[in-house]
Amino acid sequence: MKNWNDTKSIRKDFPILERKIDGKPLIYFDNAATSQKPVQVINALTNYYENYNSNIHRGLHTMSEEATLAYEGTREKIARFIDAPSEREVIFTRNATEAINIVVESWGKHNIGAGDEIVITSMEHHSNFVPWQKLCEDKGARLVYIEIGADGNLDYAMAERLITNKTKIVAVTQMSNVMGTVVDLKILGKLARLNGAKFLVDGAQGVPHLPTSVREIDCDFLVFSMHKMLGPTGVGVLWGKEELLDLMPPMLYGGDMISSVTREKTTVNELPWKFEAGTPNIADVIASGAAIDYLQNLGMQNVRAHELELTRYAMDAMLKLPSMKIYGPQNPELKGGVISFNYEGIHPHDMGQILNESGIAIRAGHHCCQPLMKTLGVMGTARASFYIYNTIEEIDFFVDALIKAEKVLNYVACR
Ligand SMILES: Cc1ncc(COP(=O)(O)O)c(C=O)c1O
Repeated sequence: MKNWNDTKSIRKDFPILERKIDGKPLIYFDNAATSQKPVQVINALTNYYENYNSNIHRGLHTMSEEATLAYEGTREKIARFIDAPSEREVIFTRNATEAINIVVESWGKHNIGAGDEIVITSMEHHSNFVPWQKLCEDKGARLVYIEIGADGNLDYAMAERLITNKTKIVAVTQMSNVMGTVVDLKILGKLARLNGAKFLVDGAQGVPHLPTSVREIDCDFLVFSMHKMLGPTGVGVLWGKEELLDLMPPMLYGGDMISSVTREKTTVNELPWKFEAGTPNIADVIASGAAIDYLQNLGMQNVRAHELELTRYAMDAMLKLPSMKIYGPQNPELKGGVISFNYEGIHPHDMGQILNESGIAIRAGHHCCQPLMKTLGVMGTARASFYIYNTIEEIDFFVDALIKAEKVLNYVACR
């Protein structure tokens, strides 16, 4: 059992953290984009390719059976991780984006019509925005936005007004990838339920960092990406209530998603395989199981506690810097370990570049949230985001680098 407080020992599991950037130790604060991978995940990948690489579900030979067991084993682990009633409700996709697109194609296209409303928030990632916008265009439906207040929190009074019996689905992020705002899903879920609407949660930022139970949230769909939670790229998850998924047609047709095929007719497979056409990403799904084990071992309450400590410490120090603006909730309790900021007069890209010279990896830009940038009245922000292997010492170094960066950039700007 790993001790979540023993960051030194956790860091030893992440070979990339030994890396130097221009001779300086890497400080990786771009975790909201993708997380780093522990040796346990890397070893699961190489073990599959070195010892039992084969296709799943179809073969009767030993290696195929081993691969099938490991692949389906990850599905069971994920079901337990999100407290799903059944692993039949866990569908593997390429990423969270594809998972949302399946809901739009296989549920939305058959259940949304002219005059219907889809409620999202103004802080959605493009992934939970563009597919709904396109569906509305195609169907003559209306996209309705719950706004954020000046404090960066969702306006729940507005949500109460906007979610009505015209609403067919409420689709919201669990945590903003820009401001870290944690959404009160229970309130929104209740409003959706009261009005007979479906409820989709974009857990791309929430599931990696917060304990998440689909039964507690009482949502209809939950989507997330394994690459943001220690797993490899190329694996996403769509969880949906069995009775809904049962009624939805597949998005892709071909091999594996069938139960029988004749010249005249194809019968589709049962859940979850009816949504997994063709050979899936076997190796990465298997390695995702190791990522889930790693997080389970730490305990998601502890992951949250560690990030809260880092965020509190970082915000405290950053807010002491003159002309520093942090977007979103100023109370760390109301947000995840994501800090979006700007220094007055300094372009976030310049800030990102100069921090990179100190070995610090942050992200700068619109973070796939152009509508939110418009709401905030900025072109972009710089963003630092934390995970289980980050430390207070790294934050000290980061804050020092911010002070130096501000001096250099403002000096250049004045000339
Ligand atoms: C809130 C949110 N939703 C969805 C996505 C899309 O995830 P992916 O690119 O893995 O599909 C992201 C990615 O950053 C995100 O932050």
